[in-house]
Amino acid sequence: MPATSLASGFPSAAARFDVARVRAEFPILATRVHGKPLVYLDNAATTQKPRAVLDAVLGYYTTENANIHRGVHYLSQQATEAYEGAREKVARFLNAASAREIIFVRGATEGINLVAQSYGRSVVRPGDEILVTGMEHHSNIVPWQLLAEQTGVVLRVAPLTDAGELDVAAFERLLGERTRLVSVVHLSNALGTVNPIRRITAAAHRRGIPVLVDGAQSAPHLAVDVRALDCDFFVFSGHKLFGPTGIGVLYGREALLDRMPPWQGGGDMISSVTFERSTWAGLPAKFEAGTPHIAGAVGLGAAVDWLSRIGLDAVAAHEDELLRYAAAEVGRIPGVTLIGTAPERASILSFALDGVHAHDIGQVLDLEGVAIRAGHHCAQPVMQRFGVAATARASFALYNTRAEVDALVAGLFKVKQVFAR
Ligand SMILES: Cc1ncc(COP(=O)(O)O)c(C=O)c1O
Repeated sequence: MPATSLASGFPSAAARFDVARVRAEFPILATRVHGKPLVYLDNAATTQKPRAVLDAVLGYYTTENANIHRGVHYLSQQATEAYEGAREKVARFLNAASAREIIFVRGATEGINLVAQSYGRSVVRPGDEILVTGMEHHSNIVPWQLLAEQTGVVLRVAPLTDAGELDVAAFERLLGERTRLVSVVHLSNALGTVNPIRRITAAAHRRGIPVLVDGAQSAPHLAVDVRALDCDFFVFSGHKLFGPTGIGVLYGREALLDRMPPWQGGGDMISSVTFERSTWAGLPAKFEAGTPHIAGAVGLGAAVDWLSRIGLDAVAAHEDELLRYAAAEVGRIPGVTLIGTAPERASILSFALDGVHAHDIGQVLDLEGVAIRAGHHCAQPVMQRFGVAATARASFALYNTRAEVDALVAGLFKVKQVFAR
């Protein structure tokens, strides 16, 4: 019987979702690996690309390619429209108030570095504090450490519970007179934990502190509304959201971006230049020095359109069902410990297997056609917190199926056989 939403009587989001149709849009999913069908469960590292994105990038280079802005000729105007059109699409995707709040960058990493170097350097004084959590990706740790070396700002870290949740009470106690910014991951790439962003922004804003949300893992899996989250900055990477590599987004509240100085100088970000003095362009150009990744932006625009057509509520419902199934099936394998058991989780299953190194798990699974990731996932402090050197991580996307979870589980039994002592 199809699942129905009790309130409306219409089929529920999960029931409306047709995974076979979605899979058919990804040519790479037909790949065979070591003679076995590819089971791609490394989506937190990067996602595969649907035809809509492949066609948009090829179409751009085939029919529209030119450099953007200031061009008087036809192709330059086409390329400019395609690039700025992609910005509008991303603004709608995040529910930003205006496309001026969307800065194209290389990815989440560059977005955070931009905020550290522009916002951070212009507001912090020695002894001021930046507050992060114990579950951050290195991209949301190291830029603040660089800022600390440059300015004397101090990095504070809110602790985690044993389930891998943020200790929100401890986090709130760390918000103080000297806190200049909170920078927090939305969905942890190492644990799968989904953080209570509204509660975090409310607590920080009560003290007048802006909040950056690292949405590298959340944007492809959960509907994001930056105004509902009430965050001041939000970053994500195109390649994790079915788009090209080398393109990503920094959303910033216009009033904040307006006050921030540029962080890179060059073409396109200026209003006027003399040898004595230059003045800056308005938003968003002020933060986009040099020729940007035009084709990347076009591909990302196609990706957000494609994902929005499917609907993130349907995606989240499908992935939630898959993650629950995977957690139950993998969790019951003798010797497996799940790392990260927060009630609010999405898309990521991190685990350890007694007596077997995560890399060995990854290699045996690869021979079965199953692609997972093994290592510290660029989150070494998380590994330290949970007392493991590495974990094996299966990460799901909208095209994954229960049959693929079954292949993962069968592969893990093989791992146990190979390493049986
Ligand atoms: C939570 C999180 N933040 C930031 C990043 C960095 O993303 P990128 O390497 O695309 O800049 C990642 C990548 O894995 C991530 O998972």
